[in-house]
Amino acid sequence: MLSLLQDLDLRFDAETPDHGPAIEAISAEAFGPGRFVRAAERVRETAPHDPALSVVAILRGEVVGSVRQTRIAIGGTPALMLGPLAVRPAFKKRGIGRTLLGLAAEVAATAGERAIFLVGDRAYYMPLGYRPLPVGSVRMPAPVDESRILGLELVPGAFAGVCGAVGPR
Ligand SMILES: CC(C)(COP(=O)(O)OP(=O)(O)OC[C@H]1O[C@@H](n2cnc3c(N)ncnc32)[C@H](O)[C@@H]1OP(=O)(O)O)[C@@H](O)C(=O)NCCC(=O)NCCS
Repeated sequence: MLSLLQDLDLRFDAETPDHGPAIEAISAEAFGPGRFVRAAERVRETAPHDPALSVVAILRGEVVGSVRQTRIAIGGTPALMLGPLAVRPAFKKRGIGRTLLGLAAEVAATAGERAIFLVGDRAYYMPLGYRPLPVGSVRMPAPVDESRILGLELVPGAFAGVCGAVGPR
């Protein structure tokens, strides 16, 4: 049997305004009402995500997964903040999340971005190249477990000496 990723009707695209309601529904399903008080959401209130750097997975015309990226700076270091990343429960464990992350890094690099950071589970992101940023180096607008602050350099050394508050560029 063909795996889902070989399904000819699965495609990955840049986000457009039409995808907004479906992405909101996927986020609600994945994170519940608590999503509005997450530290990353506080950042996104001041710096909206960039649809051109955000990717959706579309299966037979329906959005089944999404990853968003937001242009921010950490102190003087420009970076993208990745998130939320979510895949509809029925379509998990088929590589869609991993593919979304790979494409997010690809569109970021193509756009001239140098680094990506996120707040997430080490067990999921480290096999995909993310590494912990030094504890205390990244100040979020609300408390987070600092061991979950992870970074991916698209340009070697892009996070060298990174230090400061996360905010709009
Ligand atoms: C995390 C998420 C996006 C992964 O999507 P996905 O399409 O299932 O991902 P992939 O198919 O690429 O990878 C699945 C693998 O990652 C593992 N995985 C999923 N979430 C994980 C986590 N938090 N920590 C460690 N491993 C995790 C799965 O167990 C699976 O392992 P397997 O391949 O050995 O079976 C999806 O589970 C989801 O939407 N979760 C709820 C929202 C969320 O937690 N988002 C991340 C915020 S940090």
